[in-house]
Amino acid sequence: MQRRTLSQTDLDVSALCLGTMILGSKVDRVDCFPFLDAYLEAGGNFLDTARIYSDWIPGELHRSERILGEWLKARGNRDELIIATKGGLPEFVDMSHTEFGDWLDLGKVPGDLTASLDHLKTDRVDLYFLHRDHPDVPVDEIMDVVHELVASGKTRYVGCSNWRADRIRTANTYAVEHGKTPFVVNQLFWHVGVWKMDWKPSVLEAMNLEALQFHRETGMTAIAYSPQARGLFSKAVHSEALSGTGSLPSWYSPQLVDLAQALNPIGELTGLTVNQVVLNYLIQHPLAPIPIVGGRTVEQLQDSFKALERPLPKEAYETVLQLAGEPG
Ligand SMILES: NC(=O)c1ccc[n+]([C@@H]2O[C@H](COP(=O)([O-])OP(=O)(O)OC[C@H]3O[C@@H](n4cnc5c(N)ncnc54)[C@H](OP(=O)(O)O)[C@@H]3O)[C@@H](O)[C@H]2O)c1
Repeated sequence: MQRRTLSQTDLDVSALCLGTMILGSKVDRVDCFPFLDAYLEAGGNFLDTARIYSDWIPGELHRSERILGEWLKARGNRDELIIATKGGLPEFVDMSHTEFGDWLDLGKVPGDLTASLDHLKTDRVDLYFLHRDHPDVPVDEIMDVVHELVASGKTRYVGCSNWRADRIRTANTYAVEHGKTPFVVNQLFWHVGVWKMDWKPSVLEAMNLEALQFHRETGMTAIAYSPQARGLFSKAVHSEALSGTGSLPSWYSPQLVDLAQALNPIGELTGLTVNQVVLNYLIQHPLAPIPIVGGRTVEQLQDSFKALERPLPKEAYETVLQLAGEPG
């Protein structure tokens, strides 16, 4: 798998990061080691988790990090991998509480990082993300805490997740002017359909015009989560699971189905599934983002990884950008 260097770091990561949000939930515990092994066998070296992942499954907290830690120990490969985790969310109570209601709890951040290291069975992560922002908290307070995380040696670098572009700008300006550690990367919701989405303001941040301009200007690496739109394009083309509104994400818009139908023939012409076209929109994007690929099965992962071997021809890629409606 090709490597890319994350902005302002010496971290050489594979072009596709593996998301581990559903380890121990949608991916059964018994299947987790083969799932992680498959990514390694494909040449991947960059894993994304969070302290809160799989906490929505009753019975055990911090399941994703724990499983990842067990796997790292069993395989003895910690030093060959780039590990990212996230923290600073309030304790999980229920889905409605954490998913849509809560901002960053700054006071929890240092303790969260220490606890994550314990679960991951390592003495440092390579990248630590503040999982969300709290727009009422001044950035100087936040960046002072961020600085200490790096100074402690418990993380090599710090990034932000679900932050507005103007807040990242202000935070990094403060950091640079005061000799503090800046955010080096930004993790946000981004797939080919974002320009057609019905996105409601929330604690989550999606790629938008301001973020696009910010990344163009600063060169900061964007780490794109939900890069396959959770499989929505594939399901739209195959007419699966889109009939009942219960299964649709909150950001769904009928225009996404139209986009799926328009992208599918481009895939057929170039030997790609529509899901691979969706992934190649990011893999080939001029900003060189790193998509965090999710999947339930090894077969899905292997299918997604094939996108890397089959880049879209230049003209087809330009058509994808136009159909997506990305601002030029
Ligand atoms: N920072 C944040 O706030 C945040 C938020 C969310 C996620 N993340 C990170 O991003 C990672 C990925 O998120 P995600 O799971 O939403 O990403 P995604 O890659 O957009 O969605 C994964 C889903 O896409 C479908 N899929 C996967 N491979 C496919 C293929 N080859 N063909 C067709 N469909 C396929 C599957 O849906 P089915 O299961 O329905 O088959 C799979 O569960 C997470 O694990 C986490 O690390 C971060």
